[in-house]
Amino acid sequence: MNTNNKKRISTKKLFTLIGLAVGFGVLIFKVLATESFMGSNSIYGDYQKDWWQYLLLFMMIIFILAVSNAVLKIDRKDNVIKSQIMLYSSMFLTVVMCFVTDLYFGEYARPLALAGIFAAVTLNKRAAIYTNVALAMIFILVETFAKGFSQITVVPSLCGMFAGVIMSMLISSDDTRLKTVFTIVAMIPVYVILTVIFGAIFNTLNWDMLVSSLLQSALSPVLAGFLFLGLLPLFEAMFKLVTPYYLSELIDINKGILFKLSVEAPGTFNHSLAVANLTGACALALGEDVRLARATSYYHDVGKLSDPSVFKENLISDEQNPHDKLTPELSVNLIKRHVTYGVELLRKHGLPEEIIKGVMEHHGTLPMKFFYHKATKFTDGYVDIAEYSYEGPRPTSKVTAIIMIVDAAEAAVRTIHDRTRVKIDEVIKSIIEERMELEQFDDCDITFRDLQIIRRTLVDNFAGIYHERIEYPKLKLVRRQNDQSEEK
Ligand SMILES: [Fe+2]
Ligand SMILES: [Fe+2]
Repeated sequence: MNTNNKKRISTKKLFTLIGLAVGFGVLIFKVLATESFMGSNSIYGDYQKDWWQYLLLFMMIIFILAVSNAVLKIDRKDNVIKSQIMLYSSMFLTVVMCFVTDLYFGEYARPLALAGIFAAVTLNKRAAIYTNVALAMIFILVETFAKGFSQITVVPSLCGMFAGVIMSMLISSDDTRLKTVFTIVAMIPVYVILTVIFGAIFNTLNWDMLVSSLLQSALSPVLAGFLFLGLLPLFEAMFKLVTPYYLSELIDINKGILFKLSVEAPGTFNHSLAVANLTGACALALGEDVRLARATSYYHDVGKLSDPSVFKENLISDEQNPHDKLTPELSVNLIKRHVTYGVELLRKHGLPEEIIKGVMEHHGTLPMKFFYHKATKFTDGYVDIAEYSYEGPRPTSKVTAIIMIVDAAEAAVRTIHDRTRVKIDEVIKSIIEERMELEQFDDCDITFRDLQIIRRTLVDNFAGIYHERIEYPKLKLVRRQNDQSEEK
């Protein structure tokens, strides 16, 4: 397992380096291209540059990107490399698009906010704000280097930076793709006002250029919005990105595997919905990704579609349990299969690795106590508990650890008759302690404090589900005399 991890990380690092190299290549190409286009006719200054000046520029850009790396590492403990590749690729694309826009429309029309929008949607607002600032700084540096310092090298980048920061604050991860694009396009007046403000400050507003500058700045958010809409599916496919939009689409119960689960294994489907709600509450309490936790819970038992009838929740109470007629070995193999078949099914349907990993780990290496006990009754000798245990791996993330606890808690609380707070708390406490005893959390960074928070959250939520209802008196009501006479 470790070897594979190392292999995957080194491939990702390679991609990062390629992405960075291409990005810098384009930036430097832009510097050189601008210089050769402007040549000695440049109105911004014509001075010969030495190699060490190029080197300093290159180092400054690396410094700006290195700080963005640090920001990512503060915010994300997992998948930093994937986020780096995604972020640098979106920055690279933004640079290319700005370059193309410069040629056809002008500097104010640059979709400079594009990379920031990607960061706002796939990472967080802090990364988005930094991305906007970093890109604007890179543009100001490169353009000042190529053309010399002037208002026209600073103002469009400043407008783009401020508008991008405002936009990143406005974009909400709860929105749909289309609503996000509307938010971006609705930024047109903000861009125009910023162009007027910075134009006034830096004295770049002359009447000849005013209309064209304002039209260009109105075009910038439109370009950014449509490029985002067009490029996002490409990013989702290339980096197997799990965006909030994608997760919301995945938990649509009216289509795909989830619809099939609701029809063919209704018991498992209802259990999955309950697990999703409880897991979502725990993820929220721990500050984990609620959408990912809910989506993984929806899919955690889809492997039961291989044979829904061998799982208790899909049997009606008077139906005979098929395991009564099976040997414990056969029962265990049928039950274990729901994990491997689930993973197969999800891979076939192209679900993201984050969800597949959660499905693979949700039972860890837990023993199936019921069948192990049955097996010990059939044999006088030793029964290997490993043969009666799930094959793992154990949870490697807090989200999977939550699902492991909730999965067992949901089933256990269902079976108790006396559902008082104290009793529910006792059940959840024993589930957590048993999993700790069996070393199921040794591969993830969950803490005792996290486990206490999960326990409290589950007790509160179960109390909400199984709250006391007023018992209505058993009265047999008869229709009023008047109603009867009207009918006649
Ligand atoms: Fe399961
Ligand atoms: Fe389950």
